[in-house]
Amino acid sequence: MESIARLTSFAVSLLFLLSCLSFTSTEAYDALDPTGNITIKWDVMSWTPDGYVAVVTMYNFQQYRHIQAPGWTLGWTWAKKEVIWSMVGAQTTEQGDCSRFKGNVPHCCKKDPTVVDLLPGTAYNQQIANCCKGGVLNSWVQDPANAASSFQISVGAAGTTNKTVKLPKNFTLKAPGPGYTCGPAKIVRATKFITADKRRVTQALMTWNVTCTYSQFLAQKTPTCCVSLSSFYNDTIVNCPTCTCGCKSNSTDSESCVNPNHPHLASAVSGSGKSNINTPLVQCTSHMCPVRIHWHVKINYKEYWRVKVSITNFNYRMNYSQWNLVAQHPNFDNLTQIFSFNYKSLTPYAGLNDTAMMWGVKFYNDFLNEAGPLGNVQSELLFRKDKSTFTFEKGWAFPRRIYFNGDNCVMPPPDSYPWLPNAGPPKMASLLRLAMTVLASFVFLVAYA
Ligand SMILES: *[C@@H]1O[C@H](CO)[C@@H](O)[C@H](O)[C@H]1NC(C)=O
Ligand SMILES: *[C@@H]1O[C@H](CO)[C@@H](O)[C@H](O)[C@H]1NC(C)=O
Ligand SMILES: *[C@@H]1O[C@H](CO)[C@@H](O)[C@H](O)[C@H]1NC(C)=O
Ligand SMILES: *[C@@H]1O[C@H](CO)[C@@H](O)[C@H](O)[C@H]1NC(C)=O
Ligand SMILES: *[C@@H]1O[C@H](CO)[C@@H](O)[C@H](O)[C@H]1NC(C)=O
Ligand SMILES: *[C@@H]1O[C@H](CO)[C@@H](O)[C@H](O)[C@H]1NC(C)=O
Ligand SMILES: *[C@@H]1O[C@H](CO)[C@@H](O)[C@H](O)[C@H]1NC(C)=O
Ligand SMILES: *[C@@H]1O[C@H](CO)[C@@H](O)[C@H](O)[C@H]1NC(C)=O
Ligand SMILES: *[C@@H]1O[C@H](CO)[C@@H](O)[C@H](O)[C@H]1NC(C)=O
Repeated sequence: MESIARLTSFAVSLLFLLSCLSFTSTEAYDALDPTGNITIKWDVMSWTPDGYVAVVTMYNFQQYRHIQAPGWTLGWTWAKKEVIWSMVGAQTTEQGDCSRFKGNVPHCCKKDPTVVDLLPGTAYNQQIANCCKGGVLNSWVQDPANAASSFQISVGAAGTTNKTVKLPKNFTLKAPGPGYTCGPAKIVRATKFITADKRRVTQALMTWNVTCTYSQFLAQKTPTCCVSLSSFYNDTIVNCPTCTCGCKSNSTDSESCVNPNHPHLASAVSGSGKSNINTPLVQCTSHMCPVRIHWHVKINYKEYWRVKVSITNFNYRMNYSQWNLVAQHPNFDNLTQIFSFNYKSLTPYAGLNDTAMMWGVKFYNDFLNEAGPLGNVQSELLFRKDKSTFTFEKGWAFPRRIYFNGDNCVMPPPDSYPWLPNAGPPKMASLLRLAMTVLASFVFLVAYA
């Protein structure tokens, strides 16, 4: 009897482990935005003698993750020998070998074309609606009007009916680095279009969708942001964990980081060049993260309590336009006021209202400047105390999770949180969280393995 029970529990834990493995390595899943995805929709608008004309639209259905400059890159593989006769609102990066064509030469003959958006200010005859934003795709919550991007494509040497057309395969979406994984194209119900005066409905001849999801593990090898903590009731400032995003190299002429007081700062920054814009050039800190979020528990009132949140940019090579922050704390269901940030509550799960998305006010602080005196933004949050849950003990006043631009920021270990005077380190809560941290780091390791 006992051995069977033991065997069962072993099998169950093995199953759990396996599900953990497959879960992290195949599917990108974000607990705070479980259905977040970018959907690419192809609407065939007309058949031509040797193919079709389609409008391709990318919808960013992610609540808070956006694609910022230098923008998206979309690729696929043709199923047969299709070519692109022409494009409006985007272009392929390479034409490829079109030598088999006499006279009219296609825009692109590559088997695996790579498409990029056109830049703002493109001539009107090369534009269509939702195009030409330099590949920038804003997030669904922050800027729904700019969460879609379109182009028109005229395909030749292709099927000319919905029976003979072959769907493109192997879609890749770069932002512009890795991170997104796209599924196969699937034929869906043809899109219906309503005319501007709403008096007529037309429809695509055929529509297919591709869904792409994001995984932070695929996107970058190291974390990109970290969290530091402090409170009015304890002088200790708990800094980001050391070496969160890398370690400071100790040779002075190393280019790994910049000392803000160093005389060679200007040359190091200007000499960096635009080509390696994706490799951050960070200020030398103990954590080496490009971005730090500081959460300070500032004031305790009778009915309310107040938090100050600051975001600091340590990257000399990056201005964050339209940045956003997601924070999870149980008191967000009683947020009374937020100063100088926009706010929307996210409810990834029905009934749980503990997650907030915050972003800058347009033309005021929606632009987080590169590292330096202007490289920070801040806000204060006023929470109403819920007597049944509110406490300053056991680190309750600190956030459970922080995301910057959709990436999870590394928190200090729970047993280092500032304590209330005369209180010991948080015990139960800490043990539980420690267990979760261990599990999380295990998942991390597995995902990188
Ligand atoms: C993609 O996002 C949309 C909008 O949130 C959702 O309706 C759809 O089910 C998602 N698709 C997948 C495959 O998750
Ligand atoms: C193809 O078009 C025919 C009409 O021309 C239609 O009946 C059929 O449903 C279409 N099939 C698909 C897969 O769209
Ligand atoms: C899919 O695309 C990737 C990257 O472009 C390429 O490495 C891979 O070989 C392609 N797979 C197929 C089946 O075409
Ligand atoms: C296909 O994409 C469109 C637009 O993104 C969406 O409205 C539609 O629901 C999608 N269809 C399916 C079956 O996912
Ligand atoms: C740099 O590292 C070497 C050995 O690894 C050590 O001897 C030296 O003191 C370090 N220098 C600084 C400035 O930390
Ligand atoms: C950031 O923006 C400032 C002001 O607009 C500009 O001077 C600077 O060159 C930008 N830096 C980068 C790395 O793009
Ligand atoms: C969540 O809480 C905020 C702040 O109290 C409130 O404004 C919002 O309506 C709540 N949302 C839901 C879905 O309960
Ligand atoms: C806090 O919010 C919850 C859910 O929105 C509500 O039931 C509760 O009464 C609120 N508490 C206070 C003190 O406002
Ligand atoms: C403040 O918190 C730290 C832990 O981060 C602890 O070591 C220290 O003793 C606390 N100070 C007081 C006065 O309780």
